[in-house]
Parts: sequence; C-alpha cells; structure tokens
Amino acid sequence: MLEIAVIHGPNLNLLGRREPSVYGHQSLQDINASIQKLADSLSLSVRFFQSNAEHELVEFIHSCIDAVDGVIINPAAFTHTSVALRDALLAIDKPFIEVHLSNVAAREPFRTHSYLADKAVATISGLGIEGYLAAVRFWPTYKLQES
Ligand code: DQA
Repeated sequence: MLEIAVIHGPNLNLLGRREPSVYGHQSLQDINASIQKLADSLSLSVRFFQSNAEHELVEFIHSCIDAVDGVIINPAAFTHTSVALRDALLAIDKPFIEVHLSNVAAREPFRTHSYLADKAVATISGLGIEGYLAAVRFWPTYKLQES
C-alpha cells in the first residue's frame, strides 16, 4: 500500500477561524477528514501532522524517511522563510507536492517566493481544499510513472 504524509505548517490549526475570506470556512479537521476519505477510496495510507514549530516539522519530516512514499506539504509561512524545511525534505529524498489554500501569487510580494517550489513535484496554489485532494489523487499516477 502506498503511504503518504500530509504536513501542515504554522497557523493552519486555526483554519475555519483564521481569515476565512482567504482560507475558507473549513477546519483542519474537516480538511484532514476529506483527505482521509479520498485516500481510503484510493487505498492510500496517510499520516497527518501539523505544527506551529519549525523544528517539530523538521523532526516529523525526518521520521518519514523510511515510512512514506511521498509527502504533501502546506508549509504555510515557512514556505517563504525556511531553508531548514527545504533541507529536511531534500534529506529524506521523497517526492513532495507543495499546497497552498490561497493563491500566493496574487497576495503580498513576499509570498511569491518559496524555498521549496523548485524541488517540488508540483505546487498547487489557490484551489482551497481541492488543492490537497488533487495532490492526493496524483500519487497513484506518479508511482505508475516511476515504475
Ligand atoms: C498558505 C499561504 C502562506 O503564505 C501563509 O503564510 C499561510 C497559508 C496557504 O495555504 O495559502 O499560512 O500556505
């Protein structure tokens, strides 16, 4: 069975209450439940993680090294600041998809730079929760392409 990690960065624990006009009304629990349902239908195994702390995200990524086939990550604000997350993802050498709920290219200029995007399989930005679901749907196809 394919296993993927879905990782959420800082402030995403407040989804549903945090700037709903930007990030929508669904909570992180709602999003994870939708991801889990889709993953079940595709026979994918998923492990979820959220943290507001950069080092916890780094440690969780390390824990994926022998455990997952791929990663879906919304690094949130760390997208724009974190060499450590970039290095952690490169260190485990697993393909990853970067997801943003909002369209970061249409917001403040500092959000247009990502420390991860050039190493990602893809970046999905601006589709809300559908971005996560599209990323989940992609994995079985990607694995077929690889083999
Ligand atoms: C975000 C976009 C980031 O710029 C921001 O810091 C977030 C969320 C998104 O999902 O749209 O926290 O990653």
